[in-house]
Amino acid sequence: MPQLFDPYQLKDITLRNRIGVSPMCQYSAEDGVPNDWHLVNLGSRAVGGAGLVIAEATAVEARGRISPGDLGIWADKHIEPHYRMTKFIKEHGAVPAIQIAHAGRKGSAARPWEGDNSLKDEEGGWETVAPSAIAFGGELWRVPKEMTHQDIQEVQTAFRSAALRALEAGYEWLELHFAHGYLAHSFYSPLSNKRTDEYGGSFENRIRFVVETTRAVREVWSDRLPLTARLSCYDWVEGGWTIDDSVELSKKLKAEGVDLIDCSSGFNSSDYKNYPFGAGWQVPFAEKIRKEAQIATAAVGSITQAMQADEIIRNGRADIVLLAREMLRDPYWSYHAALELQTKDAAKELLPVQYGGRV
Ligand SMILES: Cc1cc2nc3c(=O)[nH]c(=O)nc-3n(C[C@H](O)[C@H](O)[C@H](O)COP(=O)(O)O)c2cc1C
Repeated sequence: MPQLFDPYQLKDITLRNRIGVSPMCQYSAEDGVPNDWHLVNLGSRAVGGAGLVIAEATAVEARGRISPGDLGIWADKHIEPHYRMTKFIKEHGAVPAIQIAHAGRKGSAARPWEGDNSLKDEEGGWETVAPSAIAFGGELWRVPKEMTHQDIQEVQTAFRSAALRALEAGYEWLELHFAHGYLAHSFYSPLSNKRTDEYGGSFENRIRFVVETTRAVREVWSDRLPLTARLSCYDWVEGGWTIDDSVELSKKLKAEGVDLIDCSSGFNSSDYKNYPFGAGWQVPFAEKIRKEAQIATAAVGSITQAMQADEIIRNGRADIVLLAREMLRDPYWSYHAALELQTKDAAKELLPVQYGGRV
């Protein structure tokens, strides 16, 4: 029976424990370039003892940013500053991961602390793209352009180039952002995809964008390193994408060479009234996909307690746990969890040598 502080091996990569920092946008880059904030933010979570540190949704093209402050990996100038982060994260015992993303119709938005709304052209906004010309709704009023086949190919090529740059930048774990109402999710969800060509309509057609994008990335990403995908496993809207659809998609992604599914949900509509937010609310998705699609999973969503995280691993509900907001509250969460679970050796090993024996 594996435990939270047992190492976890996926492909040639071994995490020192089963704890990961979930990707979190910082909206603090200029022209996509990582800076000191990103280094310190992610670096301190590596110092704090996490096994895996996943860099935020990082745009594969400038048009695919959520806000003007998103990280990017669409140009060679991004490689070196990303490398600076991966080097530091590795030096402190964690595995550096990156989530590559395209915001689709949720792009061209103001930073959360500046309103979270669609930006007008004169405010620095840009044209967004999506499977169908349907705005997200609420404050995100911008109507995206319906993508042509050429647009689709260009974005898939951008994902492939981003994966190559991520390798060069020293990342050892790649996550494809296929969740939260961004471009990929808006293709597979019937709520946002009203196309009548081979990319819309049936289940097979709606997942085509995701399957092809995965294939394009798999061709260039190292076979020795984990390739993972974050899904919105359920739309929480009647007539939307279901968990059974996610099981089927996970089987297909496994056949395409995906090693782990990161099981999130929702955020493809501006209506959140049905979301059962609360302790471990998305864990059942990770458990079901792990069992029924026979693929490794990550659980995420209101995992805040050491015992709670350990239970998920011990009972085979997921292979790793990812924490987001709790890691913001406590970068040393992993160290504190090791103390609480009385894995004293693990606790000691998690502290950097600079602190060793003095706390
Ligand atoms: C500030 C912030 C930024 C986030 N940015 C991303 C992101 O870049 N990519 C992503 O997939 N999820 C993102 N999320 C969602 C988290 O990764 C996570 O799935 C969610 O917060 C639930 O986990 P939690 O309850 O531990 O916070 C973000 C969450 C927060 C709080």
